[in-house]
Amino acid sequence: MADPVLRLTGLGKSFDGHRVFSDVDLEVLPGDRIAILGASGSGKSTLLRCVNVLETPDEGSMEVGGKAVGDNTRNRPARYSERELRALRQRVGMVFQQFNLFPHMTVAGNVAEGLVTVRGMSTSAARERAVSELKRVGLADKADTYPSRLSGGQKQRVAIARALAMDPEILLFDEPTSALDPALVGEVLSVIKQLADEGRTMLLVTHEIGFAYHVATRIVFLADGGIYETGTPDEVLKNPKRPLTQQFLAEHQRFQF
Ligand SMILES: Nc1ncnc2c1ncn2[C@@H]1O[C@H](COP(=O)(O)OP(=O)(O)O)[C@@H](O)[C@H]1O
Ligand SMILES: [Mg+2]
Repeated sequence: MADPVLRLTGLGKSFDGHRVFSDVDLEVLPGDRIAILGASGSGKSTLLRCVNVLETPDEGSMEVGGKAVGDNTRNRPARYSERELRALRQRVGMVFQQFNLFPHMTVAGNVAEGLVTVRGMSTSAARERAVSELKRVGLADKADTYPSRLSGGQKQRVAIARALAMDPEILLFDEPTSALDPALVGEVLSVIKQLADEGRTMLLVTHEIGFAYHVATRIVFLADGGIYETGTPDEVLKNPKRPLTQQFLAEHQRFQF
């Protein structure tokens, strides 16, 4: 069997003595698409942020591509070197709810930035790669535009192109459509669907439950300080077994399968 792209073992995180989650075990195989659902405040963002160490987990361990991330042999919680974090963030791409584009750079500049500063690519090679990633998300014609001139849906597609440019082994999406006008949600979901069809590995935090049903290979429902229920989309979304999952789904009845 293939090595997991990502393995979390007993992962836990607290803020100021308040525990967000603990004992999170998760194994993500190549091509897995895991939708993470849960009420607001259940720790979805914190879990994703731990995976690329924007937050440092304070319990447990993590492996990316079969290799431990952070040194927790002598240090608990684990410690992370700058060099390791730079390498990790190339392998783990993140797309944020608020896009997080650099406003003073063009679209192509945003996509090329990591290639130049992290990968050491020449400006011209990086631009070429940036334009080819922009083509993939349907925005090659916006290469020289500044983000302020784009719609939210276009901004998010640029952010996706930026993540893809680094050839990540796994993509993390944190509510990628939550900041968008309803009319712009579809164009972003269709780019994510296309990435899913290409067999990319992803963790997707979303409230688009119908989308999660069709795109995810597995659902993880967070509640009560950890993974509360997990299984296939049919198991968790159509036949949830536990009360908080049932309640959450009843409150999100707007979706359609
Ligand atoms: N940087 C932080 N400092 C303190 N508390 C935080 C921080 N980030 C998140 N939290 C808290 O952790 C809990 C989980 O937050 P979050 O992961 O953002 O939830 P979700 O994404 O599921 O809405 C919340 O109670 C939130 O207030
Ligand atoms: Mg969140």
